[in-house]
Amino acid sequence: MTELTGITRAAAPVAFPQDRGCPYEPPAAYAALRDGPALSRVALYDGREVWLVTGHGAARALLADQRLSSDRCRPGFPQLSARLAAIQSDRSPALFGTDDPEHQVQRRMMIPSFSLRSVNAQRPRIQRTVDTLLEAMIAQGPPAELVSAFALPVSLTMICGLLGVPYADHAFFTAQCHRMLSGPTGADARDARGRLDEYLGDLIDRKERQSAPGEGLLDDLVRDQLRAGTLERAELVSLALLMLVAGHETTAGMISLGTLTLLAHPERLAELRADAALWPAAVEELMRMLSISDGLARLALEDIEVAGVTIRAGEGVLFALSVINRDASVYDAPDAPDWHRPARHHLGFGFGIHQCLGQNLARAELEIALSSLFARLPALRPAVPVQEIPFKPGDTTQGLLELPVTW
Ligand code: HEM
Repeated sequence: MTELTGITRAAAPVAFPQDRGCPYEPPAAYAALRDGPALSRVALYDGREVWLVTGHGAARALLADQRLSSDRCRPGFPQLSARLAAIQSDRSPALFGTDDPEHQVQRRMMIPSFSLRSVNAQRPRIQRTVDTLLEAMIAQGPPAELVSAFALPVSLTMICGLLGVPYADHAFFTAQCHRMLSGPTGADARDARGRLDEYLGDLIDRKERQSAPGEGLLDDLVRDQLRAGTLERAELVSLALLMLVAGHETTAGMISLGTLTLLAHPERLAELRADAALWPAAVEELMRMLSISDGLARLALEDIEVAGVTIRAGEGVLFALSVINRDASVYDAPDAPDWHRPARHHLGFGFGIHQCLGQNLARAELEIALSSLFARLPALRPAVPVQEIPFKPGDTTQGLLELPVTW
């Protein structure tokens, strides 16, 4: 409570989400939430108040609790922005926006393609992709723009290959994905989603007509599920859209932000140069610190008691991963990167039934991309002052829009 001219008034809830001031640190205004209770009230863009979870233990308990729904079409589902409301409230995304048992059926169809074994088999291809891109960048530079020359094409090449989406179409679908997730208005975002639906629908129709199936996951789903009648066309389009978006924006964001974070911590980077075996731990620690998917959302279907509060049925619940992953009761000196801490139980890939399906692939891409980048370019550095590097707004997956570098 705040004393104001003799009247006792409740402090106004913090607005959520907020833009970061520094792309690899949580927004300054979230500091007020860090030392407080595990759940606080925050205000969304439309003024509605919802719960924000900031404690690590409460977050794990709630993300594993199926009384919280991920279905964006349910009335009252908390949306982070008008843009997201425009593209999600009429059609909840596949998998990520569904609840069990529907969710489990969809996830089971996809698990084999994302297993550790499948991803390990992809490692040589990831390494070849990374090497080819680095050679092209080195041949043309310095300087270079790392997002378009490296971070985006690494993640796009891998997800296109895995799904069976033609890489040659990437300029079209990355532009539409960008409009859908970061465009100026809800109407624009919805138009972009329509174009992506149409593109993926045509691609699936072409795959269905082919006599010899191709080799991607979409080809497998056409052959094993669509033709068998266990998956409808609209559902397959929605799954394809989710994987295309989730599979490139996130990893590209981590490659660009991870690079900048390492450049900002030269003493930690030196440790990695001295001992390459530390790279897997460094990737986990960067995932914890950067928390690029900040603001997971759920709707309470029943009353839930947690950490001394009662979440009422119908209330929105958000998860501030950037705060949860720096909970000082779980991590010593949480703001300092440390490759020697056990960071693996961070929630950067979520937790519970929706925990990231692509996490094995993301880890492999990040480890290979970042280790190869710094090995090939030991003098890598930003080509402009860090304050001039543009990055994404707080209501979408975090990442840099551009990273001009030199070496
Ligand atoms: C560093 C990169 C990545 C990060 C930070 C990330 C983060 C996340 C998070 C936090 C969730 C949970 C969402 C929730 O609980 O509401 C999630 C789910 C998901 N991610 Fe990732 N992700 C990454 C890479 C990928 C990749 C490469 C793919 C490949 C297609 C992918 C596919 C998915 C899918 C399909 C889901 C939904 C799973 C489900 O609902 O069962 N992600 N991701």
